[in-house]
Amino acid sequence: MSLNHKDLLGLQFLDKKELQIILDSVQPFKTLFTRSVKKAPTLLGKTVVTLFYEPSTRTRTSFEIAAKRLSADIVNITVQASSVVKGESLIDTGKTLEAMNADYIIIRHSMAGAPDILARNLDASVINAGDGFHEHPTQGLLDLYTMYEKKKSFEGLKVLLVGDILHSRVAKSNIWALNKMGAKVAVAGPPTLIPPRIEELGVKVFYNLDEAIKEADVINILRIQLERQKENLFPSVHEYVELYQLTKDRLAKAKKEVLIMHPGPMNRGIEISSAVADSPNAVINEQVTNGIAVRMAVLYLLKPKVKKNVSSN
Ligand code: CP
Repeated sequence: MSLNHKDLLGLQFLDKKELQIILDSVQPFKTLFTRSVKKAPTLLGKTVVTLFYEPSTRTRTSFEIAAKRLSADIVNITVQASSVVKGESLIDTGKTLEAMNADYIIIRHSMAGAPDILARNLDASVINAGDGFHEHPTQGLLDLYTMYEKKKSFEGLKVLLVGDILHSRVAKSNIWALNKMGAKVAVAGPPTLIPPRIEELGVKVFYNLDEAIKEADVINILRIQLERQKENLFPSVHEYVELYQLTKDRLAKAKKEVLIMHPGPMNRGIEISSAVADSPNAVINEQVTNGIAVRMAVLYLLKPKVKKNVSSN
């Protein structure tokens, strides 16, 4: 199995068959985690660079572990300590890394479309690790894989995304991919945090969380991104908590087997209570573990262009 893609820029750009190829490729990498030597020689001699213009714990660490388990060399660039602060452009930074034989560049940027600019200008495979409000495709894939592992099929699966849909690149990647896989996607949150005309993507909209959770098979809670809000989009955090925090009382109204997911980092006590985050329904830590295997599958499946100055022998 392989993907006919150099880059992974968003789940919007993959069809159902390609999404299924990725999901089907994850399990062998996950099996590797149970062995004493958790390594495969798949990317021996290849170089992976992470270029994060925004903070990260999960995604960056997960890509680093994934690359190491595939035997690649990995370099992490701390943008604040790089020549970016001297005014170097994104394309020049990318070309500099490529001149050092980077085969894969994993980029997180506050500007939607930044990974696309890099991908058009480089032979290296570019993987979007989150761009502005646009997409976070590997988070979307690990969310889908965790749902697939637990629920076995997407057909008719009711997935509810709760909270700050407007600023969430995770929500966008979930919506694009889940719709293609046959799931039924709904969102719930304050009207100011739901993008206008989102129904046109085939998404059901709820403003009342208590109503929304009754039908859900999966509830994916999103972080309230106060740092991205240019204006106050709800009256107070206290009011948000009253209306939209997933609490034990609210969870009691959901299906018994409902999966509780969160991409992290969690604001405990704001969008999710600690009792729910630590409940048997929560698979939040399993999402993190699956993230490594999913990113191994993505690195394995993408095809960087063969560089003109490198012999194929
Ligand atoms: N889910 C996610 O993207 O987490 P990080 O910001 O820690 O990478």
